[in-house]
Amino acid sequence: MKVSVFGIGYVGAVSATCLANDGHKVIAVDVDAHKVNTLNRGRAPIVEAGLEPLLAKNVASGALCATTDCEAAIAATDISFICVGTPSDKSGAVGLDYVRRVCHDVGAALATKGAYHCVVVRSTIVPGTLESVCIPVLEEASSLRAGKEFGVGYYPEFLREGSAIEDFYNPGLVVFGAIDKTTEDKLRDLCNNLPCTCHVVPLATAELVKYASNAWRAVKITFANEIGNIAKACGIDGQVVMQVLCSDDKVSMSPYFLRPGFAFGGSCLPKDLRALRHVAREKSTVTPLLDAVLEANIGQIARAETMVENSGCKSVGLVGISFKVGTDDTRESPLAELAARLISKGFDVRVYDPSVSFAYGRDLRKSGPVNGTVPDLQARLVTGIDELIACSDVILVGNRYEETVEPLSAAASSKRLVDLTRLKPNLRSGGHYQGICW
Ligand SMILES: NC(=O)c1ccc[n+]([C@@H]2O[C@H](COP(=O)([O-])OP(=O)(O)OC[C@H]3O[C@@H](n4cnc5c(N)ncnc54)[C@H](O)[C@@H]3O)[C@@H](O)[C@H]2O)c1
Repeated sequence: MKVSVFGIGYVGAVSATCLANDGHKVIAVDVDAHKVNTLNRGRAPIVEAGLEPLLAKNVASGALCATTDCEAAIAATDISFICVGTPSDKSGAVGLDYVRRVCHDVGAALATKGAYHCVVVRSTIVPGTLESVCIPVLEEASSLRAGKEFGVGYYPEFLREGSAIEDFYNPGLVVFGAIDKTTEDKLRDLCNNLPCTCHVVPLATAELVKYASNAWRAVKITFANEIGNIAKACGIDGQVVMQVLCSDDKVSMSPYFLRPGFAFGGSCLPKDLRALRHVAREKSTVTPLLDAVLEANIGQIARAETMVENSGCKSVGLVGISFKVGTDDTRESPLAELAARLISKGFDVRVYDPSVSFAYGRDLRKSGPVNGTVPDLQARLVTGIDELIACSDVILVGNRYEETVEPLSAAASSKRLVDLTRLKPNLRSGGHYQGICW
């Protein structure tokens, strides 16, 4: 492919060099003439392990060159990667000055090109930016229609400085979106041989994946630091604690707990989080992240409560009251807390929960954990899902019981449904149906 790379910074310099090394003809473009001259002399414009020899080799072979001439670069290539900076502005919002400017320059160059060209943004931009900023600027400057007369894609970069070349060839994650088939096909071709799954998603999804990735990394580092601080205060080696924790792929490192949905609860997580914070307080160690976790969890219960209130219905059919499927345990169940809040506000709440009903039938609830959170819980239990649907104006799905999926999906066409668990993966909020995070 003939590729132009806009921005010869940490992302652009590495991408341009590696693409050239892979056999593409690459023109790097920057407004900084010094960076352009540096690259054309076979020198790396940034410090990055292994970059300079690779860059020099490809400049010498003619596979890679740099210019400040945007129009010439667009004319000589088929696809452009936009890798300009997006520093924070004063309010903390993503700074789009460079992105706007480069989209304007590229758009103006497209106007004179007279052939189809694909513009792929690689800079980190918040969800919706491509749609609301990049495409309108490109269209206005080019007087062409995106998706019809030129292509547009978003392909975020995940490289880490210091191992950027290794990350280019062996990425942890590849995700992109495109509004036209030509751009999508070109990106598929480019990513074809990479040793990981190539996720093709809507533009805004790709934009948010990039932020989720960086936020997640930041949260992990802060979590590890907080555990490390508590560990040191207790005379324990925090790095050993985290190493052992990370050896557990089944629970600690499992993607299962990274699925957006309802609050956590049960007999262990809330109480143990409280106890850990208590230990930290006794040792004068602050735990802002762990504090925020409990606060955010309460916020998720309030979010579900608001969704039910917004339905405008007064009789609520709650599917599940135990803290998860397969147990009758309602201790600190966020669904029990939610039911109690709704009841205290005058909602008529009926509950379908086969495990809790079974426990009452066997009289287990007398010897087991009696839950005082929900008033008259036993009297609120219905025996079948059809009964619950019939007696409720809004169904609140808290736990996903296999036998309820079809009846509830069918009911969604006539009844309001607030879903905290996602009955089916393709369900999205709209009409009678509201999912808590989808
Ligand atoms: N640095 C990283 O490790 C990294 C990793 C992944 C993603 N990102 C994202 O990639 C983007 C680029 O980051 P970076 O660290 O490479 O930035 P950078 O500041 O190092 O480089 C940006 C380059 O763009 C050039 N530029 C600005 N306006 C231009 C224009 N109109 N035309 C041509 N060139 C122009 C600048 O002169 C500069 O050389 C950012 O959105 C960043 O968040 C960075």
